Order: sequence, then structure tokens, then C-alpha cells
Amino acid sequence: MNRKYRRTIIAGNWKMNKTPAEAKALIEELKTKVGKQKWCDVVLCVPFVDIPAAIRATRDAKISIAAQNMHFEKSGAFTGEVSADMLKELGVKYVVIGHSERREYFGETDKTVNLKVKAALENGLRPIVCVGESLDQRESDITAEHITMQVKLALADITADQLRKIVFAYEPIWAIGTGKTATAEQASEVCGLIRAVIRAKYGARVARSVTIQYGGSMNPKNAAELLAQLDIDGGLIGGASLKADDFAAIINAANQ
Ligand code: PGA
Repeated sequence: MNRKYRRTIIAGNWKMNKTPAEAKALIEELKTKVGKQKWCDVVLCVPFVDIPAAIRATRDAKISIAAQNMHFEKSGAFTGEVSADMLKELGVKYVVIGHSERREYFGETDKTVNLKVKAALENGLRPIVCVGESLDQRESDITAEHITMQVKLALADITADQLRKIVFAYEPIWAIGTGKTATAEQASEVCGLIRAVIRAKYGARVARSVTIQYGGSMNPKNAAELLAQLDIDGGLIGGASLKADDFAAIINAANQ
């Protein structure tokens, strides 16, 4: 974290978990466990159908709600999809774009990531853009090349002003849901690389203001060490965000 230049953001990615009633119950429990939020913003990335319940339950809390995906078109014949302005009208503030599960199972590409980032920004939603390498790519020593390409393509035609609204999440695919965490050194190296790619295109002032999260089996035990790295400005947390105790402990670690 570098609190002088940027916000720390702890985001819970619930994935396909929790019904609206369960969402309400989890949020009510979470609110009782989170201490004073001095330094960090909290975001919950919930399933579409949970959004109204989550918005209601967070009205009296400093917690923002995110969607986990959206379509890049405004409206039309796209059965099963949801647009940015639909989310905006519900009170959603952020949207996760290009999570590796969407890239792997639902045909998300660097091109659609870029289109979605632009559509989100045009509608006043803050994109949380996910990038990350597979185990194969890491072992073949092409992590830096792959991440650089993903970041550059996500940011095609994005202005410096727009960039200030974007959050990045570095999520090594081999660490997601596996219990294997990147070491603080590995995570910090790639988050630093993401910032360097941004710096090369937009300059140092803009680059230092961007929040870059780490994601991949972050938990109450490893959070403090990861968050102590200068280039890691928060977390995108899956499994541990489904338990109020664990998620609150991570938030509280970020507020230390
Ligand atoms: P995990 O998921 O914390 O369960 O590894 C992270 C993510 O996919 O965002």
C-alpha cells in the first residue's frame, strides 16, 4: 500500500454463491465485525440477482457494491446479458471485468475486456480489470510479457482521465481458489510491472494514483504481508470473502 498516493480497496468476489437472503445475512454479519474504515474502501462483488438486497443492506455502511460482469452494448438482442446502465440504476459502483474464470469459461477476450472497460467508464462505473498468468506461462517465463500485453490491450483508447477510475487486480490463475498464494515478492513484482506499463503510457503522476490489487487465495493469515508491499493496494478475495470473520479480518488488516 502507498496511502499517500492512492486508496486501498478490499473487494470480496462472491462468484456464484449466496442467494439474496443469504447475501443480506452475510452483509449484516460483516457490518458487525468491521472496525473503523480509516484507510480502505470495501467493495462486494455479488451475483446480479443479489444486487438489490446488497444495496439495501449496505445503505448504512461504507461498502460499495460491484457486479461481476456486464455486456459492453447498451441494449439489444443479447439474451441473458446485463448492461452498464442497468447496473448503474440499481446503485452499483464497480464492475469486475475480465476475471480469469470469465476468460476461461465464457469466451472473454482482451478485445471484449477493452470494450467492457470503455462501456463501464462511459456509464460511470469503475472497472476492476483482472489480469494474470497461468501456471504454464509462469513456468515458461513469459509472465511479464503476458501481463504487459493484457494491460496494454485492456487500456486501448483509454484516456488518462478515464484511467484514474480503473482498478487493476493481479490474479495469478494458479493461485485462484487453490490455497496457493503468490509470495509477497512475486505478487509485488507483477503489481509493480502493471504500474510500470501504466507509467510508460500515461506518466508517473497517473501511474502512482492507480489502485492495483492482488487476488489469489488471500486470507487473514497472508493479507498483512501482501498488503505491506508498496505496489499492492488491496485485494480481490474469493473464498475468504464468503466468511464474515475472515473477510472482516482482511479489511481490518488493511486499516492497520
Ligand atoms: P480466491 O479467489 O481468493 O478464492 O483464490 C480470488 C478471485 O478469483 O478473485
